[in-house]
Amino acid sequence: ADSKIYSASTTAPVNIAVIKYWGKRDPKLNLPTNSSLSVTLSQADLRTHTTATCSAFFPAQDSLLLNGQLQDVSGARTQACFRELRSLRAKLEEQDPQFPKLSRYPLRIVSENNFPTAAGLASSAAGFAALVRAIADLYQLKESPVELSRIARQGSGSACRSLFGGYVAWEMGQEASGTDSTAVQVAPAEHWPEMQALILVVSAAKKGVSSTAGMQATVATSSLFPARVASVPQRMEDMITAIKEQNFESFGRLTMKDSNSFHATCLDTEPPIFYLNDVSRAAIRVVEDINKKAGKIVAAYTFDAGPNAVIYFEEKSTDAVAGVFKERLGHLEGWTGKGESIRASATEGV
Ligand code: PMV
Repeated sequence: ADSKIYSASTTAPVNIAVIKYWGKRDPKLNLPTNSSLSVTLSQADLRTHTTATCSAFFPAQDSLLLNGQLQDVSGARTQACFRELRSLRAKLEEQDPQFPKLSRYPLRIVSENNFPTAAGLASSAAGFAALVRAIADLYQLKESPVELSRIARQGSGSACRSLFGGYVAWEMGQEASGTDSTAVQVAPAEHWPEMQALILVVSAAKKGVSSTAGMQATVATSSLFPARVASVPQRMEDMITAIKEQNFESFGRLTMKDSNSFHATCLDTEPPIFYLNDVSRAAIRVVEDINKKAGKIVAAYTFDAGPNAVIYFEEKSTDAVAGVFKERLGHLEGWTGKGESIRASATEGV
């Protein structure tokens, strides 16, 4: 019998969307109602580290430990990832009988986030990207990142974008099976070395309404939602052009427009969903003031399913942006003490 323990480790970075994914046309497969686009942030600052091991001698159940706590792996999302990766491994084992039958061994996954989990800081994105990459490495799969993104998408939609670094589009696709709903790199991080992100942790608490529940409610009840969905294709096109041309003004304007459009559909949901709080709104005003003073857009805010702000800016505007934030919001309650800021730059993916 095979007494070995097989192991592979990886880290996956967080990505923060500038065109948001909000709405599922197929909740089971995590197929979105619109394409989205994100920037993958520096691994050193915000990342999930994951080790996948398997052995014929492990207890029969697969297990997942996240930040030292045992997680429920019976959910359909995690099961879909395990199933797809196992079936790819099983194909290799069929082709070459010498390959140990890892697909039949129980899996043991250990993950650590170095940032607050489920606080709207895209922890599920890094989490599922790392889980899929670690198991794919453990199984020595030859699948491309695009193919792995299709699997990670089933864990958490936004996770498909964390398989790549730099600027990443998740193309919504047309197929009911989801085969064409995958992530692709629009540009590598080095394409725009000036790009920086400032993350303002307004609250590290778990979000009130999960993204899945929120999306479902918005799709079902918001009359603004169809208008948002109709506006995304043009914005995607303009965003890709802005990135290709390193046009920060256009990038920033589109980023803020899309964040506001997404949060407007949340407010239009019945009952309304409020992800932004007073500190988030104060951050928006600071960005408006910075841009007014500069006479052009040098800073852009975006918010996911929580109050934390991500501010994009170019390195050359550091004093005008990061400096002013410190000055203006350093004194706010809920900002100092509990609050902290993390600087991150765009980076390569896993
Ligand atoms: O991947 P999920 O199901 O956690 O959804 C993420 C949704 C947003 O973060 C709000 C937007 C996005 O595109 O990342």
